[in-house]
Amino acid sequence: MASSDVAQQLDNSARPLSLSGHVGFDSLPDQLVNKSTCQGFCFNILCIGETGIGKSTLMDTLFNTNFENCESSHFEPQVKLRAQTYDLQESNVRLRLTVVNTVGFGDQMNKHDSFQPVVDYIDRQYETYLQEELKIKRSLHNYHDSRLHACLYFISPSGHSLKSLDLVTMKKLDSKVNIIPVIAKADTISKSELHKFKIKIMSELVSNGVQIYQFPLDDETVAKVNTTMNGHLPFAVVGSTEEVLVGNKMVKARQYPWGVVQVENESHCDFVKLREMLICVNMEDLREQTHTRHYELYRRCKLEEMGFRDTDPESKPVSLQETYEAKRTEFLQELQRREEEMRQLFVQRVKEKESELKDAERELQGRFEQLKRLHAEERNVLEDKRRVLEEDQSSFNKRRAAAQLLQAQSLNVNGKKDKDRKNSGFM
Ligand code: GTP
Ligand code: MG
Repeated sequence: MASSDVAQQLDNSARPLSLSGHVGFDSLPDQLVNKSTCQGFCFNILCIGETGIGKSTLMDTLFNTNFENCESSHFEPQVKLRAQTYDLQESNVRLRLTVVNTVGFGDQMNKHDSFQPVVDYIDRQYETYLQEELKIKRSLHNYHDSRLHACLYFISPSGHSLKSLDLVTMKKLDSKVNIIPVIAKADTISKSELHKFKIKIMSELVSNGVQIYQFPLDDETVAKVNTTMNGHLPFAVVGSTEEVLVGNKMVKARQYPWGVVQVENESHCDFVKLREMLICVNMEDLREQTHTRHYELYRRCKLEEMGFRDTDPESKPVSLQETYEAKRTEFLQELQRREEEMRQLFVQRVKEKESELKDAERELQGRFEQLKRLHAEERNVLEDKRRVLEEDQSSFNKRRAAAQLLQAQSLNVNGKKDKDRKNSGFM
């Protein structure tokens, strides 16, 4: 019997027993809390929104601090992400918080793939975690988890509708991260317009199939508040770190010539709702969803891409080792096939080269024979010419000798005549 079957049988046959005295495992939840508190927590927020929409101000307002903020320019050639990590402490709870902000989002003329750097960034964090998980020597207990737990998507308070950039980006991200849409600078939109705007946004998200994060209803202690809050999405927020005196109390607010918008006043905006939902009630669920839903999906797709499966084509379970061995055999066969292919290709190329060389040799031989023939012909012609010349030369020599003889004879005759004339006294 397989060990999993045994385990299942034991599980099914587990009998409930009552204890007759104190044992102590009721402290397990406390042990868990203590251990987690000791280790500290980590939370990573991604803020996506146009330049100057109020991302940094909202983060400062949410965490009651001043994060390092630097204004982004509107002239970035492409969207970038800037991440900063901080160690925060509240009572005895330590939180390692990473805030990732988009830089230059919505500023380019061509916004066609503005979502891509964001998608790549999210995937990179999952990939790093997966690589750590796949190591032989893992150190996940002290690993700095950079996976993004929540994405605050800042919607411009146009009062009109979502931009196509918003819809495309949220659609690309909804299976990768928990999206919480917020209407930024909600103090710039009137109450009645805001109500209509929220309805419009939600209907556009639904009709475009964008899945935003829903506050969970499985924990009954928070199910009621979460149900109510799901109905308030997207939260209309106002951010400010400025303190203004209202009544006899200093409150965070934005002061205008006509009055004061109080950030933490629920009749002015949804800031408190966002803080409650994001930090006080659902932070752990956001972390859990990231691990069990989004990361799990990334991991599954990645492992399937690498050829790993839980079942074979006949739906029978396959172990990792079996998959590995099957992959190895497949790989070796492929290697052999390629080797054979390469060998045949090599033989074919050698044959081709050989025949090419033979053709060239034949051609050269032909040209050599032709040259030889030409050369012999030329030699014969030259031989003939030489013979003719030699004959000419010998006949010339003969004629010259005869001429010389004649000349000598005539000289002798003339000499004798002159002597005779002298002797006869003609001179
Ligand atoms: P970049 O990081 O440069 O992209 O900007 P950001 O999105 O971080 O915006 P930031 O928080 O720097 O705010 C930009 C301007 O908007 C500042 O002048 C803020 O005071 C103002 N601002 C921020 N939040 C609000 C808000 O809720 N309402 C109004 N009316 N103004 C706001
Ligand atoms: Mg900023």
